[in-house]
Amino acid sequence: MSNTHDPDGVRLQKVLARAGVASRRAAEDLIAQGRVQVDGETVREQGRRIDPDTAVVHVDGARITLRDDQVYLALNKPFGLHSTMSDDMGRPCIGDLLADRVEIMNTAQRLFHVGRLDAETEGLLLLTNDGELGHRLMHPSYEVPKTYLAEIEGKIARDLGRRLRDGIELEDGIARVDAFKLVDAVPGRATVQLILHEGRKHIVRRMLSEVGHPVLRLVRTHVGSVALGNQRPGKLRPLDRVEVGSLYKAVGL
Ligand code: URA
Repeated sequence: MSNTHDPDGVRLQKVLARAGVASRRAAEDLIAQGRVQVDGETVREQGRRIDPDTAVVHVDGARITLRDDQVYLALNKPFGLHSTMSDDMGRPCIGDLLADRVEIMNTAQRLFHVGRLDAETEGLLLLTNDGELGHRLMHPSYEVPKTYLAEIEGKIARDLGRRLRDGIELEDGIARVDAFKLVDAVPGRATVQLILHEGRKHIVRRMLSEVGHPVLRLVRTHVGSVALGNQRPGKLRPLDRVEVGSLYKAVGL
């Protein structure tokens, strides 16, 4: 939401309406109810003018994105694609999926992927040109949980969850899951859900191999509270306002 034509700023209710939070009338109610903060201060008066390019606005504690040049996308990365924007060796990569989307590439020159998935891993990969959010999401100190569904070989021992939560000794140090759940089992294989907040290379595959369960298929289903849902492989979708707000919150922005 560019403010280049309005040196005095834009009225808060108009900013909220333009950002898709609510109609202008409903935005006035939100303000009157004390649910809107600008730069950390609750604003109750209706006439407040702000600069949408610089103001930090929260509604009900969730940050609202005001800049229309910022792009937040969820990709269901298909099996076999490398998590790179272009590949020197000509291997298929996520950049190939974006190249066709002229409208995205025109508005989002500096689009980057938030972390990586192995070429063999499928599922949720976020893309953005919001450097501050993207870098925090990738930084282990913010501990954003990621959820995976793994199809694994072998019979699941009763104590597998406890072992994974206690920590598995890998060659580059101990790795732990925050949560583990057996989702489904048939003789010789099972589907398990793991939640972990670190992003070392091949971490899920290595942990499960170490405890005797080679991974047959791995899908990332969530990053924080953003869910893959039933988005088809290869498809991109813009995150909605609530999803972007939840990511901001997860990394303390
Ligand atoms: N863990 C893995 O082993 N692979 C991924 O792609 C992500 C997490």
